Amino acid sequence: MELAERFLLDALAYLECALGVVCYMLLKLRGSPYGRYSSPGSAFGLPARAAWVVQELPSLALPLLACAGAGAPAERLNRWPNCILLAMFLVHYAQRTLVFPFLIRGGKPTPLYVFLLAFVFCTYNGYLQSRYLSQYAVYADDWLRDPRFLTGSALWLIGMLINIHSDHVLRNLRKPGETGYKIPRGGLFEYISAANYFGEVVEWCGYALACWSIQGWAFAVFTFCVLFTRAQQHHKWYHEKFEDYPKFRKIMIPFLV
Ligand SMILES: NC(=O)c1ccc[n+]([C@@H]2O[C@H](COP(=O)([O-])OP(=O)(O)OC[C@H]3O[C@@H](n4cnc5c(N)ncnc54)[C@H](OP(=O)(O)O)[C@@H]3O)[C@@H](O)[C@H]2O)c1
Repeated sequence: MELAERFLLDALAYLECALGVVCYMLLKLRGSPYGRYSSPGSAFGLPARAAWVVQELPSLALPLLACAGAGAPAERLNRWPNCILLAMFLVHYAQRTLVFPFLIRGGKPTPLYVFLLAFVFCTYNGYLQSRYLSQYAVYADDWLRDPRFLTGSALWLIGMLINIHSDHVLRNLRKPGETGYKIPRGGLFEYISAANYFGEVVEWCGYALACWSIQGWAFAVFTFCVLFTRAQQHHKWYHEKFEDYPKFRKIMIPFLV
């Protein structure tokens, strides 16, 4: 049974990488369908705030259930590296589920199928990360001093701070009650159009480095595939909408792309 689940978690991780590549191609062809790109007046739109809370909830609930030992005792959570890595995942999803949605200003309704896909992804990935770290991941006694763990944890923290700060900048472009769009200024937006996505990708690459597992890298690859295509779309959209959009800004990686 244990061996079968260990094998399943590896298979799910490889599948997540493959799904990331499929999403990349589909999103390149069809474009990202929510936020500024959702069809106005669609009958199947959910309020943005409620959609964010519910769709992200599995990625908060599943690690919490793992910590509580629901189903099976959390074999590996008596080890510091496993606890800290699972805490990184939990902290992000506590912010994304319980804080981020309540700060949104004038967010566009979320199409029902986007909500359902996000919910399925958060269940899939929440199970993958929490089950792997709580039951199977084995780290050396000195892993907390390993350069991969130290660099990865620092990148995770820096990425999360960039992501939260950039979402704050975007939110404050609107006064309460406004729903339109403005050119973002300040922070990493001076260099890239999608500073919030850059932060999120750095955060999950740091987590993957600190975990040093195919499960961690699968999440980083998936995030990059989904967010880079949306960043490209935002960049093009800003150039079309604002004549005075800064020419120097790159898409998602400062000075490069
Ligand atoms: N890990 C993953 O795979 C993944 C996937 C998707 C998102 N995320 C994260 O979830 C968060 C939100 O993502 P998102 O795709 O919704 O981001 P987004 O398109 O940048 O929008 C974020 C919020 O800011 C508003 N906004 C964006 N640009 C604006 C502008 N120029 N002027 C005024 N308001 C503006 C949006 O309003 P409207 O809704 O009205 O457009 C929305 O409420 C980000 O932190 C992102 O990294 C993660």
